[in-house]
Amino acid sequence: MIYLNGQFMPLEEARIPVLDRGFIFGDGVYELIPVYSRHPFRLTEHLQRLDASLKEIRLPNPHTVDEWARLVREVIARNPWEDQSVYLQVTRGVAPRDHAFPVGADPTVFLMANPLSTPPQEQVEKGVVCVTAADNRWLRCNIKSISLLANVLLRQVAVDAGAVETILLRDGFLTEGSASNVFVVRGDTLLTPPKNHLILPGITYDVVLELAASGGIPSEVREVSEFELRSAQEVMLTSSTKEILAVVELDGRKVGSGRPGAVFQQLYRLYQEFKARVMRTPAPPQALTG
Ligand code: PDD
Repeated sequence: MIYLNGQFMPLEEARIPVLDRGFIFGDGVYELIPVYSRHPFRLTEHLQRLDASLKEIRLPNPHTVDEWARLVREVIARNPWEDQSVYLQVTRGVAPRDHAFPVGADPTVFLMANPLSTPPQEQVEKGVVCVTAADNRWLRCNIKSISLLANVLLRQVAVDAGAVETILLRDGFLTEGSASNVFVVRGDTLLTPPKNHLILPGITYDVVLELAASGGIPSEVREVSEFELRSAQEVMLTSSTKEILAVVELDGRKVGSGRPGAVFQQLYRLYQEFKARVMRTPAPPQALTG
């Protein structure tokens, strides 16, 4: 069951007009919220990031946080799986094709749920292979935009190489993956690039930094050079669907020992414990500020 503009219905029955600006221009934003045992993970944070994306594209938020939270919970309840990924999307609505913002169009609001597919155990235990590519995306990567053509092309670079993710470099520095954030370990310190216009502010990124602090792992948020990436002892990917994955090979060269490292192992364990805790005590939605 999905939600479209005020109604719940089976996916097969959902229709949107071809003049939807999401279809014509990719003019919209989205969120993907993992759900464990029917508990949405970091729901408030996802809804705050949605609000930030909408502000960036100057599209008024059609719902309050409480309304969004109710919609998300309703979609979860109407679908059969215990673990889900809830996808939600807002576009600038249906209007005659013209680049300028339409006057008086209502945004299109769409939510769907799918079974959550987290990485297979083999990837968790053995790590994954990645390749690098030049980050040729625009300079507003902090917006969770549905215009994902560059990310799609960059991800396909990995698929074509038999790899799991493409790690992006801009001007000699690490940005992120085509659909994930990236952490490296050098010395005993976890490093990741700062949240700015060059990366998506990942919800999992925040969780991992919090877990590092709670587990006594030193971390630093700062620019990471290509050299630092390529000579790191450990490299990790994070996202709502990948959770935390160790990268054991980058562009055909071993990362560290070629096995998932000690910092990864600790963070992975802390992440699973954190998930289990969150499932027992869901946080109530909070009002948005500002
Ligand atoms: N993508 N960076 C990019 C470009 C992403 O697309 C994603 C997530 C992330 C990680 O963000 P988070 O931890 O909040 O999931 C970073 C989602 C999973 C997707 O597009 O399917």
